[in-house]
Formats: sequence, structure tokens, C-alpha cells
Amino acid sequence: MTKTVYIETYGCQMNQYDSELVKSILIKENYEIVTDETLADVVMLNTCTVRDNADRKVMNRVHEIKNRRKPDPVLVGVLGCMATNFKTKLLENPSLRIDFIAGPDSYKELPRLIDEVSTTGDKSFDVTLSEFETYSDVDPSREDGANAWIAIMRGCNNFCTFCVVPYTRGRERSRTPESVIQEVKRLVAAGFSQVTLLGQNVNSYRHETTDFTELMAMVSDVPGVRRIRFTSPHPKDFPKKLLNLMAERPNICNQIHLPLQAGNTRVLDAMNRTYAKEEFLALVDDIRATIPGVALSTDIIVGFPTETAEEFEDTMDVVRRVRFDAAYMFKYSERPNTLAARRLKDDIPEDEKTRRIVQLVDTQRPIYFEKNKELLGTIQEILIDSESTKKNTGEFQGRTDCNRVVIIPPGDYRQGDYISVKITDVTVSVLKGMPV
Ligand code: SAH
Ligand code: SF4
Ligand code: F3S
Repeated sequence: MTKTVYIETYGCQMNQYDSELVKSILIKENYEIVTDETLADVVMLNTCTVRDNADRKVMNRVHEIKNRRKPDPVLVGVLGCMATNFKTKLLENPSLRIDFIAGPDSYKELPRLIDEVSTTGDKSFDVTLSEFETYSDVDPSREDGANAWIAIMRGCNNFCTFCVVPYTRGRERSRTPESVIQEVKRLVAAGFSQVTLLGQNVNSYRHETTDFTELMAMVSDVPGVRRIRFTSPHPKDFPKKLLNLMAERPNICNQIHLPLQAGNTRVLDAMNRTYAKEEFLALVDDIRATIPGVALSTDIIVGFPTETAEEFEDTMDVVRRVRFDAAYMFKYSERPNTLAARRLKDDIPEDEKTRRIVQLVDTQRPIYFEKNKELLGTIQEILIDSESTKKNTGEFQGRTDCNRVVIIPPGDYRQGDYISVKITDVTVSVLKGMPV
């Protein structure tokens, strides 16, 4: 009998991609994927554990699903980073009622794990991490959309002291360039014109003699690829030849995510980020000199253990000087087993972390508004990614080369269309445009 499966995805783009892999693996085994949780025999949560609140969200969802479905039997599985982070502790907790768990390198085992728990009733698990698994042989079951994700490498060897990812996803490993290019060609044939290359450290990609710059050049040469993005890179791997390539190739988008994490060199050192404040600023200058008009986004952590108010001022200083196009800010959240958790006490009070976040947000807001105003009256090419349905006005939403969202009036558009628009109206958070 065909089993129905529902998958819910949390966390980063890599998890979204992994859910597409999982769907493909299960469809091959005659499972049917459903979009209504209440119709599913099996509910899977593909989880994130990067911060404490990510864990809590999932725990609440497991309770909700099991309680709502009483007395119907439903199997609940936890996939992804919580599975490898907490392992069988998740299954031992009787109040949680999770039936099976599978880590990011165990998805090919899912059909077996589901069979085991449904035939024997015994909880099943596989949380081993692999040095080799890249899922190159699995063709992800993608949603229709304007963008296709492609994981080119998995895992992380950097061990930033705050971060749990090296423990949940294991060591770095890269796919062969041939398998990446084959996948890009299949995507173009299926109608996608934008691809986003993914990896926990995407620019550390290396397969034998092929490095990230060479792979980008190969992807950029595939006919029909109009936009290439990549995420998430590490500032340590931006050689000049990569910046030059980005400047030369029109189909590599002028957008870089450059995670700062902190502005103070002592804190950066304690985080094991491997760059100093001045090196980060010099890299920004180099990027902007090489790729005019490039958009820069970043991630920032406030309240890393021992970070003083004065040291936080260095983060503020970098933010004011760089003027990021987007900044994602997080309060430090202690993760069990990380080096920071083992060595340092989470000693910055919650209200001080809040104060620092508020200060950052207040600094970024006028920067966003000024940057948006600079775009007023310019012509931008946008790729339609969806009908902007939040207010149900029939308006459409597209993204510029620099990844800025632009809202345009209703019209006869389809996802995947490229349209030239003039920016007519801006607020702190929204750009509005008219097709020209
Ligand atoms: N590989 C990516 C990051 C993955 S996690 C990279 O290196 O950029 C995404 C972001 O979450 C990180 O950039 C960091 O800013 C934040 N983060 C990671 N661990 C955290 C923690 N323990 N507390 C708060 N924020 C954290
Ligand atoms: Fe985490 Fe650092 Fe690796 Fe990014 S580079 S995944 S922040 S350890
Ligand atoms: Fe979260 Fe794992 Fe991604 S911890 S951010 S889902 S790599």
C-alpha cells in the first residue's frame, strides 16, 4: 500500500535542498508526497539546531502533530541537524513521542527506517555522518519556481567556536564538477534559469584540482544559465581571481553574503573566524573596487561570551563603515558541545544582548532607507519569483540582480519571467516598480 508523507522544513537553504532530495528518494520507493499534514501517514520535520529557539520550535511541533492526530496513528520523524546533534536522546524522551530520526547523511536509509518502525513498532534511527555522501546520484524533486538550489559541497571543517554545524553535518566534501554541471544542464532543460550553489562553506569547494572559482566559471558557461548565486561563503576564501570572475561574467549575480559575526579582533579570534577587523574591511574594499555595484549582506552575533560593550562598538563601527545591504542579527545562543560552550560561560545578560541587537537594528534602518532611495528612478531587471500574495492584491514580486525584492502591479506574468522595471517608490523595506 502506498504511504503518504508530509515534510516540513526548518533552517537554512541546505535543508530546503535536502528535503527535495528526501522527496525524490521516497517517491522512488512508491511513497506519495502530500501537502496536507492531516492526510499523511508519516510526518517528517527536517530540523535546524543552530540556535536554541530553533530546537524549541520543533519540539512544540512534534507535540502539536501527535496531539492533533489522536487517536489516528501517525509516524513522526525528525531529520536534519537536530537528529545528529541530540541523537537517540530524542527517542529516549518519552514525552516527545518521536518514532524515527535520520541525520543529514542518512536519507538514503529513510525507506528502511520507516519500514522498521511501522512493522516492528520499535523506534529506528541512523545518525552516522559520512565523509563521502554527496547525494550526487539523487536527482532532487524540485518545486516549480524561479530558482533551483544545488548543493556542491556539504559539511564544514571550520569549527567556529559558537557553531554546532560541524558536529551536525560532519566534514567537508565536494561533488565532482561533472556531476554539478550535469545537474545544471538538467535544470536549464527543465526551465530554470537561476541556480544557487549551496554549501556550508560554499567557496571552500574543491574537488581534486578544481576549486570554487573554476567551478563557477564552468557553471557560468552552461548555455541558458542567466543568474548564478551562491551561499554561504566564508570570508577566508575570496581570492582575487574569484572577484575578477564575478566582475567579468554578467550571469554571476552582483551579490555576496559576507558573514562578519563580530567586529572586534579579539572576539573574532575567540570565535576562531581566522580574520581580523582590518582584514574584513580590506576585503570589503577589494570586493567593491573589483565588482562595482555589488550588494553585500552579512550575519552578526551579539553577546558572544566575554564580548564587552566596548568590543561590541567595533561591530557597530564595521556596520557603519560597510553599510551592508542586508544584515541578519542573532543573540549568541550557547550550543552544547561547541568549543565556546565547553570553554566559556554564556556571561552576557539577555537584556544586554537585546540592547546590542536594538542598537544594530536602529543603525541599519536609515542605511536601508538611504540605499533604497539611491535606486529611485533606476531601471532594474527583475526575475519574477512569485505573485506577492500576502495582501492578495494580485501584485507580483521579483528580484533584482543584487537580490532586492521589487513589487510590481498586477499583470500577465509568470514565475521565471525577466522584466525591466523602473523603481518608482521606496520605503525602508520595500521597493516598488513599474514595468518599462
Ligand atoms: N555556514 C554559514 C553559517 C551557518 S549558521 C556561515 O559560515 O556563514 C548561520 C548563522 O547563524 C551564522 O552565520 C551565525 O551568524 C549564526 N549562528 C551560528 N551559531 C550561532 C549561535 N550559537 N548563536 C547565535 N547565532 C549563531
Ligand atoms: Fe558554522 Fe563557522 Fe562552519 Fe559557518 S563556517 S557552518 S559559522 S563553523
Ligand atoms: Fe540549521 Fe543545520 Fe542549516 S543547524 S542552519 S539546518 S546546517
